[in-house]
Amino acid sequence: MMKTFARLFVVLIAALLLSAPQAVQAKELTGDLEIFSWWAGDEGPALQALIDIYKQQNPKVNVINATVTGGSGVNAKAVLKTRMLGGQPPDSFQVHSGQELIGTWVKAGRMEDLTPMFKEQGLMDVFPEGLLKLIGTEDGIWSVPVNIHRSNVMWYIPANLKKWGVAAPKTWDDFLAIAPKLKAQGVVPLALAQNWTCNHLWESVALASMGADNWDALWSGKLKFDSPEGVKAWELFGKVLAYTNSDASSLSWQQATDMVIDGRAAFNVMGDWAAGYMYTTKKMQPGKDFGWAPSPGTSGEFMFLADSFGLPKGAPHRDNALAWLALLGSRKGSDAFNPLKGSISARKDSDLSLYNGYLQSAAKDWKSDRVVGSLAHGVAANETFMGGFASVMEMFLKTRNARTAAAACQQLATKAGI
Ligand code: GAL
Repeated sequence: MMKTFARLFVVLIAALLLSAPQAVQAKELTGDLEIFSWWAGDEGPALQALIDIYKQQNPKVNVINATVTGGSGVNAKAVLKTRMLGGQPPDSFQVHSGQELIGTWVKAGRMEDLTPMFKEQGLMDVFPEGLLKLIGTEDGIWSVPVNIHRSNVMWYIPANLKKWGVAAPKTWDDFLAIAPKLKAQGVVPLALAQNWTCNHLWESVALASMGADNWDALWSGKLKFDSPEGVKAWELFGKVLAYTNSDASSLSWQQATDMVIDGRAAFNVMGDWAAGYMYTTKKMQPGKDFGWAPSPGTSGEFMFLADSFGLPKGAPHRDNALAWLALLGSRKGSDAFNPLKGSISARKDSDLSLYNGYLQSAAKDWKSDRVVGSLAHGVAANETFMGGFASVMEMFLKTRNARTAAAACQQLATKAGI
């Protein structure tokens, strides 16, 4: 009798042990997953690579890739706002790490704390500490960063520069010296696109003009926007603008890059999604078909931004969204996405052998350069400031008055609580 019991007991334990892995295995996900971003068209391939992995991992989930075209989220952010305020959030949405996230949706109490997910997925130690600070507050962690982009890069085509007898300028003075020479050959010295790309150019020019310490001091409220340093930045910006194309406001950022590729323009200052565009869409090889340099006067400085995705409260398919966020944070997801996107991984352990020459050089600079936050892409200031800054820019493009623009920025800073 005892023996039979003992045998039964052993069989039972064995059965339990065998079934244990199944018991802890997550249930198969079904239903929809709506991801919201501005990575449409040419900006789409990297996102698609992530979606493909997600589909392999969760074949029963129907992924809705909801995109609203428009570089830097100019249109998407407005649509997102309507949906969030109307109680119809997507399951997960793109948002820049930093003030764009914290000063807006976190402040409004609309996001879920991802700390439990970070712990469960082992993400607490994989991102640089500075980045964790940008996605977290005392109350939690609010998004998963997918990349590190560099804002202060100048792009060109080496063969064209050779033909025109110029080199990539190291300072804005250099640029202003060679610009007339380019113009005389019928070449636009600096390609520019719609309004937000002016903000983008402004931040590189301002960084060069005032230096990294002053740039940081602007955002901590220690340096006034209408200080002599602030005014000087706008003055230099005005001089640079004189050498840009007159149809800028009707062009997308890709069309400005195209001007450089086609030899209609010599240079373009744009984030390194331009490297993604040239490499992934245009099949150009970095170093050979296109060249790059830190934007003039910013050598040794890395103006960064990070795209991230969060989980809004009330997401209709919460479990599916959590699986999506786990993929974004993973090494596999990150190293599938970034080589196509033109960005480096936000993780400290990415496999650099998967990245092209441009990205390897960016990864090196990210480690050794002085790192500062981008204004145009959500790190430095909240949306109140950014919305107002776009209007200041419009005004400056019409009037070219540096003093008025600097004063308007200071008023904005006060309003935005800087
Ligand atoms: C940035 C974004 C990049 C890229 C770019 C152009 O704001 O962080 O990933 O999409 O806009 O649209």
